Amino acid sequence: MRWLVTGTNGQLGSDLVRQLAGQDVLALTRSDLDLREESAVRGVVGRWLSSGSDVAVVVNAAAYTAVDAAETDEAAAAVVNAAAPGWLAETTSGRARLIHLSTDYVFPGDATTPYETDDPTGPLTAYGRTKLTGERAVLAADPGAYVVRTAWVFAAHGTNFVRTMLRLEREQDTVRVVDDQWGSPTWTWHLAAGLLELAGSGAPAGLYHCVGEGSTTWRGLAAAVFEAAGSDPGRVLPVGTAEFPRPAPRPAYSVLSNGAWRAAGLTPLPPWRDGVCGAVSALGRDR
Ligand SMILES: NC(=O)c1ccc[n+]([C@@H]2O[C@H](COP(=O)([O-])OP(=O)(O)OC[C@H]3O[C@@H](n4cnc5c(N)ncnc54)[C@H](OP(=O)(O)O)[C@@H]3O)[C@@H](O)[C@H]2O)c1
Repeated sequence: MRWLVTGTNGQLGSDLVRQLAGQDVLALTRSDLDLREESAVRGVVGRWLSSGSDVAVVVNAAAYTAVDAAETDEAAAAVVNAAAPGWLAETTSGRARLIHLSTDYVFPGDATTPYETDDPTGPLTAYGRTKLTGERAVLAADPGAYVVRTAWVFAAHGTNFVRTMLRLEREQDTVRVVDDQWGSPTWTWHLAAGLLELAGSGAPAGLYHCVGEGSTTWRGLAAAVFEAAGSDPGRVLPVGTAEFPRPAPRPAYSVLSNGAWRAAGLTPLPPWRDGVCGAVSALGRDR
């Protein structure tokens, strides 16, 4: 197989490229391919597809992920998250396996049990709306595509909640973290391995959820980070969402079920706590 990956400076994209080391990979950062440029998207991907005969896999790990900024700039988010995935899918249809990433934010976040892939959507935010439109554009344009929703993503690099908690653990005696929002924390290294398996699996095309097994609150995640760093998790104090108002409302419950992933015979990701331990230990090695 040969691979084209977008967003390779991002959390997921860079771990994907690391796991594909030694394979035939075209890794594209934003400066290599700006997804806002329709002719560049069609041209770069189309030429790459024409340039070889091995099975081609295209992973779209690029996205406009600034959830709060999207509230005041939905049009900008929509070009990257909704229009560009459609251009990609029109280009890959019948020629490559496209894996497009989406998000738990397509759901309204008022469930009490984990969301399945066919549960009704209802995004609360501009970011979620643009990602949902992108999912639909991909599935309409490329019937062979995979759309993989993930959630609460963290990597050993980049800007993310786990790294912020590690910094606060060093800087503060206690930290106050929201304890009434539930989700499925997912380490990019585990997710990248899952996507590699998906690409070679022959699993039916369509929608999947792929997240770390289990669920927790942001406080629970922060406490696990403290523990993994050898600190007292009791230093993480629970607070309510109302104490941290954000421009984009956060879902109260957006735990995703890996049910469709399992049903397709794919290996579920390890528990989210294993991901935290892995990321914290990888950070220790990188420091
Ligand atoms: N982060 C989460 O918690 C989360 C949760 C659920 C789902 N997801 C989804 O998972 C996927 C991967 O997320 P991530 O956390 O790895 O994202 P990330 O770290 O924010 O990386 C996104 C990458 O996309 C690139 N990008 C942004 N605009 C672009 C453009 N116009 N053209 C080309 N590249 C562009 C960025 O480039 P620069 O580096 O130059 O900015 C960045 O490298 C996305 O589809 C996201 O929606 C993420």
